[in-house]
Amino acid sequence: MESPKILIADDDKKTRDFVAAFLSYKGYQVFQAFDGQDALQKVDLHDVQMVITDIMMPRVNGLEFIKQLKSIRPDIVTIAYSAFANFEMTANLLKAGAFFYLEKPFNLEELETHVKRGLEHQALQSKSFRSKPCIKNRALLNNIIGESEKMLSLFEMVEKVAGSDSTVLIQGESGTGKELVARAIHDLSTRLEKNFVAVNCAAIPDELLESELFGHVKGSFTGAVATRIGRFEMADKGTLFLDEIGDMKANLQVKLLRVLQNREVEPVGATRSKKVDVRIIAATNQNLEQMVSSKSFREDLYYRLSVIPITLPPLRERGTDIALLLNHFLERFNKGKQSKVQGFDRQVMEILTHYDWPGNVRELENLVERMVIIKGSGLITASDLPEKYRSGKAASVLRSDEITLPDDGFCLNSAVEEFENKLILQALQKSRGNKKEAAELLNLKRTTLIEKLKKKKLVYDGVLNQ
Ligand SMILES: Nc1ncnc2c1ncn2[C@@H]1O[C@H](COP(=O)(O)OP(=O)(O)OP(=O)(O)O)[C@@H](O)[C@H]1O
Ligand SMILES: [Mg+2]
Repeated sequence: MESPKILIADDDKKTRDFVAAFLSYKGYQVFQAFDGQDALQKVDLHDVQMVITDIMMPRVNGLEFIKQLKSIRPDIVTIAYSAFANFEMTANLLKAGAFFYLEKPFNLEELETHVKRGLEHQALQSKSFRSKPCIKNRALLNNIIGESEKMLSLFEMVEKVAGSDSTVLIQGESGTGKELVARAIHDLSTRLEKNFVAVNCAAIPDELLESELFGHVKGSFTGAVATRIGRFEMADKGTLFLDEIGDMKANLQVKLLRVLQNREVEPVGATRSKKVDVRIIAATNQNLEQMVSSKSFREDLYYRLSVIPITLPPLRERGTDIALLLNHFLERFNKGKQSKVQGFDRQVMEILTHYDWPGNVRELENLVERMVIIKGSGLITASDLPEKYRSGKAASVLRSDEITLPDDGFCLNSAVEEFENKLILQALQKSRGNKKEAAELLNLKRTTLIEKLKKKKLVYDGVLNQ
């Protein structure tokens, strides 16, 4: 029988190598990941049965990783460890589905006992898991990047609705990926071989939209020099995507409602209507419910359209997806523009994961494209970011408007020193004395922080641990 496969996730290479060497020696097949995000990508790649993970890791930390892993692969057993143990953390880990929690430093024999127990538990569990449905068409949804809980439930929803012919209404802020989702629904449906026709209701002048949608007969109005079929007919047996539906004028809303009820279109100037077999997906970044209350959108049409409502969450609510998207677009633009930008440094990641992205994924995509063009190679640092991304965070730390230079001058070195000391002590307070975590908060290496503490003889009024 093949020996069990275990993935070890830890940003500290030494610990990772140490645990890996021990488990390989014990006969397990061992793989390594350098943080939670890397681990999420590697669990399927190596088809592992167990993950042993550190808690404090950059990008996706251990707790977040376990939560995400459990939502997609509940059958994989996880063991977590950390030097920083407290009740709350242990409770959260177990609640998230961790099998066992070990406090660092741990004894390797102790680890092996839990690995064995965990694998026995996994073998029992996976039998029942295999018979449950999971996201089969993940590959088809691959161009929609996201691993946050909100996006994972969206993928499930997309997969479910794709199989039906029901009308879908996609709502969400601008740039959240509404069109991408509409296309995914079409691609996963049985209509795949037929057309996906998109109409942007806001971009076509009101007087032309009717003939654009339903077609017209020659001579029916000035400029109708030939008979033309409309988008409904073009989408016959396929999908019609009515984008920016909130911008459709009242008179056309009535006509659209009639088509949705009768599944027949009447071209402008025609005397007879034609049957059409079209799946409708509508989208808007406006609040249609509010528009219904204010009578600017027809209530009956709203209900016809929102048989299956899907809401795309704004990017700022998708947590770890920001880092994932940054790397995805970096890779894409590096390829497309033959650039060699290596990545984003920690501070940039920190700034961008806390930025509120009013333009959502589109804004992020444009930012990465711009930085890849300007930078060309190397690592993107905070100084490469446009001012608006940098200012929020720096301002909150510095409060430069509160700093005034005294008339008789001042010693810059001691001011900078004092400022540094204050921030270091605050970081230690926040991490309750954990130097590794404090160093992360300050974007420093742990060893650099320790050197600084020694040199400055800084005393943190609490218990210090490694
Ligand atoms: N989850 C995602 N993964 C990868 N790319 C994405 C994702 N979401 C959006 N994008 C990209 O972001 C851009 C904007 O997406 P899209 O056009 O689907 O947004 P939208 O919600 O329709 O916006 P608007 O309301 O402004 O029309 C596109 O280039 C799309 O490919
Ligand atoms: Mg759109």
